[in-house]
Amino acid sequence: MRLAWRFLLPLGLVLGLLAWAASPLLGNLIDRWLRKDVELRSQLVFYSIEETVIRLAQEPLGLRLDTLFERLTRDERLLAVGLCAPDGRLLNHTPTWPLALACPPPPAPAPTLLAPQAPLTAPTFDIEYLGDGSLLIASFPLAEEGRDLGRLVILHDLSYIERRSTDLERYLMLFLGVLGVLVAALTAVVARLTLKGWVRQVKQRLTTAGSGAEPDRAADPEIDALVREAREALRELELPRGLADAIRVDWTPESLRRLLRSELPEAQVIVVSNREPYIHVRGDEGQMQVQHPASGLVTALEPILRACGGTWIAHGSGDADPAMVDGRDHVQVPPEDPRYELRRLWLSDAEQEGYYYGFANEGLWPLCHIVFVRPTFRAEDWARYEAVNRKFADAVVAEARVPNPVVLVQDYHFALLPRFIRQRLPEATIITFWHIPWPNPEVFGICPWREEILRGLLGSTILGFHTQFHCLNFLDSVDRLLECRIDREHSTATTGGQVTLVKPYPISIAWPPAALAGQPPVAACRAQVRAAHGLAPDSLLAVGVERFDYTKGIADRFRAVECLLDRHPEWRGRFTLLQIAAPSRSRLPSYRHTQEEALALATTINQRFGRDDWVPILLVPRHHEPEEVFTLFRAADLCLVSSLHDGMNLVAKEFVAARDDEDGVLVLSAFAGVSRELQEALIVNPYDSEAMAAAIHRGLRLPPDQRRERMRLMRSLVSEHNVYFWAARMLLTAARLRKRARIRAQIDAVTRPFPRDRRREARR
Ligand code: G6P
Repeated sequence: MRLAWRFLLPLGLVLGLLAWAASPLLGNLIDRWLRKDVELRSQLVFYSIEETVIRLAQEPLGLRLDTLFERLTRDERLLAVGLCAPDGRLLNHTPTWPLALACPPPPAPAPTLLAPQAPLTAPTFDIEYLGDGSLLIASFPLAEEGRDLGRLVILHDLSYIERRSTDLERYLMLFLGVLGVLVAALTAVVARLTLKGWVRQVKQRLTTAGSGAEPDRAADPEIDALVREAREALRELELPRGLADAIRVDWTPESLRRLLRSELPEAQVIVVSNREPYIHVRGDEGQMQVQHPASGLVTALEPILRACGGTWIAHGSGDADPAMVDGRDHVQVPPEDPRYELRRLWLSDAEQEGYYYGFANEGLWPLCHIVFVRPTFRAEDWARYEAVNRKFADAVVAEARVPNPVVLVQDYHFALLPRFIRQRLPEATIITFWHIPWPNPEVFGICPWREEILRGLLGSTILGFHTQFHCLNFLDSVDRLLECRIDREHSTATTGGQVTLVKPYPISIAWPPAALAGQPPVAACRAQVRAAHGLAPDSLLAVGVERFDYTKGIADRFRAVECLLDRHPEWRGRFTLLQIAAPSRSRLPSYRHTQEEALALATTINQRFGRDDWVPILLVPRHHEPEEVFTLFRAADLCLVSSLHDGMNLVAKEFVAARDDEDGVLVLSAFAGVSRELQEALIVNPYDSEAMAAAIHRGLRLPPDQRRERMRLMRSLVSEHNVYFWAARMLLTAARLRKRARIRAQIDAVTRPFPRDRRREARR
C-alpha cells in the first residue's frame, strides 16, 4: 500500500499540474476551432442563398426577402440577417437585428500601388466580432453584372462557444485524472511485481553464496551485478582480519590505539571481570597498599585498558577498596599514572560464597579442568551465580554511555552475563573470552544448568577460547544440548536470531612486559636470588610460579624432582627447585588440601635428600609482586610449568619475555594451551614423573647454543603474538561484524518484505 501511494501521489500531482497548465491553452484552441467553424458556416449560408437574395432584393417590397431571412434565423445560433444598401443603409432585416447595430462599413479597397494594372479583385467578405467576442458579424458583398447591390450581413450568437469550451475543459481534466490514476495503478502493480521478483532473487543469491547451493540460473544480469557488489563490500570487510593475520605488524599500545580509533571510532570499551586489576589493602600497620593479583586474566587485560582507556567493572575485593572510590564507586587507575577507570562492585559474603566460591570455583572450575576433582553443584550457589551475573549486567547498563558499547566479558564467572547484557543493550558488541578450557559434551553435560550456561554465552557476538580444540568442544556441546544452528565452516552458532562467532584467540602478555623495566642484568639477578635463598652461586635453579591451585600440578613437579634425584644423583646438592605459590581460594577444601599436600610432599622430599647446606625444594607460599617474579625468572636456568590442565598459562610466556639474554629452558606441560604455541619448550606429560624428571635432566644439560636457539624462537613468537595482537584480532573481528551488520541493515531496509508479505511470514 505504501508503495502504491509512493507512485500514485506523485503521478497524480504531475498529471494535475499538467492539466492545470494545459487547460487555458486547450480552451483557447477550442475557442478558435469553434469560431472558425461559425465563419465557415456563415460563408456556406451566404453561398447557398446568394443568388436568391440578389433576385429577391430587386423585388419592390422585399417581402419575400424578409420571409427568407426569418427562415434562416430559425437556427438558434444564427441570430439575425440583414441587407445593407451600397450607401450603408439597412434595407431589410430580421426582427432579431439589434436596434443599435448599424450596417458595417464597406471593406477598404484592395491596395493598387504595387500592381496598378492588375484587374480589380472581387470584393471579399468581412468578419468582425463585437462585444466581448460573443457576436460575430459576417458581411458579404452582393453584386450583379458588376453592379454593387449592397451587402448581406449575418449575425451569429457565439455565447455557446464559451459554454462549450468550459464543458470541454472540464471533461478533459476528468479524462486526464482518470487516465493518471489508471496509469499510476498499473505502474504500481508492475513495479511491485518486478520488485518482488528482484528481492527474491537478491535474497536467494545472497543466501546461496557460500552455501554451495546452485544459484538461480534465470537471475537477471543486473541482479548478478548488484549481488556481486554486495558480496564484494562484505568481502572487503574480511580484509582487515586477513591483513592482521598475514602482515607482520608490530602490535604495540600505540598500534592498538590507532586500530580502535580507525576501526571502532567512538566505541565505548567496557571490561567486566570478577578479579580487579588493583586491590587496595591495609598493611599490618594500617597503611594503604596496592596489590597486583596473581591472575593471568589481569596480566593480559590490564595493558589493553592502559592502552585504550575505558571502564573496567570488577568485584572490589580489597579491605581498603571502599575507602578509595568516589561517590559512584569509581577509582582512576593505575594509581601512579591513571589511564582508565575501575568501577568497583560490592558483593556480600553470601554472594561471594554462592557465586564465586560456590558455583564458579567448586562447580565450573573443576568441570572445565579435567583434573579429576569432582565438581560440586548446589542449587543455592546457582541462584547466587545468576543473581550476581544480573548485578553485573545492571552495572554494565549503568556504565554504558552509548547504545552499542564494546563489552569485553571475561571468564567463567560470567557465563550468563552476555545474554543479560544482550537483553538490555541489544546493539552492544559483546566479546566474551573464556580463559579456561571447555570440556567435551559428555563432561559438560553433567552440569545441571548446562542449557542456561550455553544460552547465556550465546548472547555474545564473539566467544573466544585459547585453542581450536576448546572451540570445537563448545560447538559440540551446543550441538548436543541446544536447539541451535551450527555452521562449522564459519564457526558460528545461531539461536533466536543471534549469531555467535566461536573462535580461538590465544591470549598473551604485553611486549615488553612492564615488570621487565628496571630489572638488573641476568647475572645480577642470578646472584641476588641465590644469595637470598642461601644457594651456592654456581647451583642450578629451576623456578615454578603459580597460584596454589590443584590444576597447576605443583605436587606432580615435586614428584618429578624426587624422581630426578633418584635417577640422577649427580644433581643432589647442585640443583634446586624454587617454587613460589600465591595462596588462592583457600576457603575451599580442595585448595586447602592442595596446599597441604604440596607442603607435606616438599617436606618429605627435602627430608629424604636434604643436607645441612642444601634442600632440593624451596616452597614459598606467599604472594609475589610481578617485579619479584621477573627477577626470579631471570635468575633461573629452567622454568617448570606442569599444569595438569590449563587454558593457556601465561607464566610460560612471562618466563620467555623475562629472558632478554636469550637463555634459559622451559619445561612445559602438554596440557597447557600455551604448548600449542611454544613448541621449542621441552614438552612433557606432568602425570609421568619419570618423563618429567628426564626432561628436567635434559634441560639442565642442554648446550648453550640450543638453549639460545629455542629461546630466540619462543621470544619471537611471544613478541609478535603479544596481548595487543590478541586484542587487535578480536576487535578487528568485532569491527568487521559491526560494519557487516550495518550493511545488512541497509540491504534489509531496501529489500524489506512488503507489509502483506510480512503478515504472511508472521502467520507462517
Ligand atoms: C584464573 C582465572 C581468572 C582468575 C585467576 C585468579 O586465571 O581464569 O579468572 O582471575 O585464575 O583466580 P582468582 O580466583 O584469584 O581470581
